[in-house]
Amino acid sequence: MRTVRLTVNGRAVTAAVEPRTHLADFLRESQLLTGTHLGCEHGVCGACTLLIDGAPARSCITYAIACEGAEITTIEGLDDDEVTRALRAAFSREHGLQCGYCTPGMLVSARDIVTRLPDADGRRVRLELSGNLCRCTGYVGIVRAICAVLEERRRNGATTEPASRRSLGPVGSGHALPVRPTDVAGSSKVVPPAAATSTDDGTTPATGAAAARPRPGTVLRQSFTVDHPRERVFAFFGQLDEVVACMPGAALTEAPRDGHVRGRLRIKLGPIAADFAGEADIERDPTSHRGVIRGHGRDSRTSSTAIGEVSYVLVEEKAGAATRVDIEVGYALRGALAQFSRSGIVNDLAERLTAAFAKNVEARLSDGADSSSGAAAAQAELGAGSLILAVIRARIRRFLDRLRGR
Ligand code: FES
Ligand code: FES
Repeated sequence: MRTVRLTVNGRAVTAAVEPRTHLADFLRESQLLTGTHLGCEHGVCGACTLLIDGAPARSCITYAIACEGAEITTIEGLDDDEVTRALRAAFSREHGLQCGYCTPGMLVSARDIVTRLPDADGRRVRLELSGNLCRCTGYVGIVRAICAVLEERRRNGATTEPASRRSLGPVGSGHALPVRPTDVAGSSKVVPPAAATSTDDGTTPATGAAAARPRPGTVLRQSFTVDHPRERVFAFFGQLDEVVACMPGAALTEAPRDGHVRGRLRIKLGPIAADFAGEADIERDPTSHRGVIRGHGRDSRTSSTAIGEVSYVLVEEKAGAATRVDIEVGYALRGALAQFSRSGIVNDLAERLTAAFAKNVEARLSDGADSSSGAAAAQAELGAGSLILAVIRARIRRFLDRLRGR
C-alpha cells in the first residue's frame, strides 16, 4: 500500500491505496463518490471523465497514486458550478440523456468545451465530444444542449477562465516526488522525468543550459542492435532523410538545413488519428557517437501540441562488427491527445515502433541508399496504421497466456 494525498472536490484527502488502484475505483469505493461512472475501463468510452487540476481526464486509466498533490473534481464537485448547472438544465430540456450512464462524463467534457471554446459551433462540439460515447441518445440532443449553452453565454457575454495547466505532461502529473524507474518487460521502460536523467544506462546527465530546459513528461528507453560497424551506423544517422524514412508515419516536409528539419508525424491508434506538423533541431557528437533531436509539433485536428526529445548513443558490440543503438524518447502532450497516457499501451507501441525502425535501419544499411528509398519508405508509412493491431494482438496473446498459467 502507498499513501496518497490529494484534494477531492475541495476536501483534503489522505488515504492508503494499492499502487494498481485507478482513480475511478479509489473515488467510488473509498470516497463513495459514485457519480464517476465506469464503462470500458480502458480509456475509450469517456464515462469516467473528471477534472484533474481543472483539465478533463480519464480516471479509469489514471492511477490514484499518480495524483499525489493533484486537485480532483468529480461530477459531485460541480453541483454548484454555474456552467454545469446551465448544462444540466439544457441536457434535460434537449433530451441529452436517456439512461444517464454517460452523462457525468459528458457533462465534464461539455463544461470543458463551453469554457475553453466559447465560439465553438456544432461541428466543433461533435469533434471535441469524440472521446465520450453514448449508447442511447444518438448525440443529437447532447450536441444541441451544449450549443444552446454556448449560444446563451455568447448572448450574455459570459466568460469563464479555462483551466490553466501548471506543468507539461499528462494531467495530474507534475506533483509527485521522484521515484525509481520500474523496469518493464523487454528492454524498454517508462520512467518519470526525474529518473530520466539518471545514469543507469551510462548516459551523461544534462548539465547547464540542457538541464534548465523543460523535460518531457514521459521517457521511454529502447535498444536494438544492427550488424554493422559503429562508424557506418553513425554516418547513416547523419543522413536525416534516410533516418526519417525508417520511422513509421514520419516524413520530412523540407530538406534539412543547418541541423534544422521540418516534418510530419502521422499516428493512427484505433479511433485516434493525429497528424503532427513540426520542426526539430539536431545535435551530433562524433567523438562519443551520440546525437539528440529536440522538436515540437502540433496536430491541426485536435490542436494538441507535443514537445519531444530523442537521444541516442551507439555502442560497439561483437568486437566492432555490430552496433547497439540505445535510444531514449521523451515527450509531453497537451490538448485532447494528452488523455492518451496509458503507459502499458504507450510502452507496447514504443516497442513495436522501435522494432519497425530497427528493421528498416538494418534493411537500409544492408541494401544501400539507392535500393531502399522507395519500397522501404512506403512500408514505413503503412506500418503506422497497422501498429495498433499488432499491439492489440500481442496484448490478447499475453492475456490468454496468463489465463492458461503460462
Ligand atoms: S471507463 Fe471508459 S474511458 Fe474510463
Ligand atoms: S444516455 Fe445512456 S449511454 Fe448516454
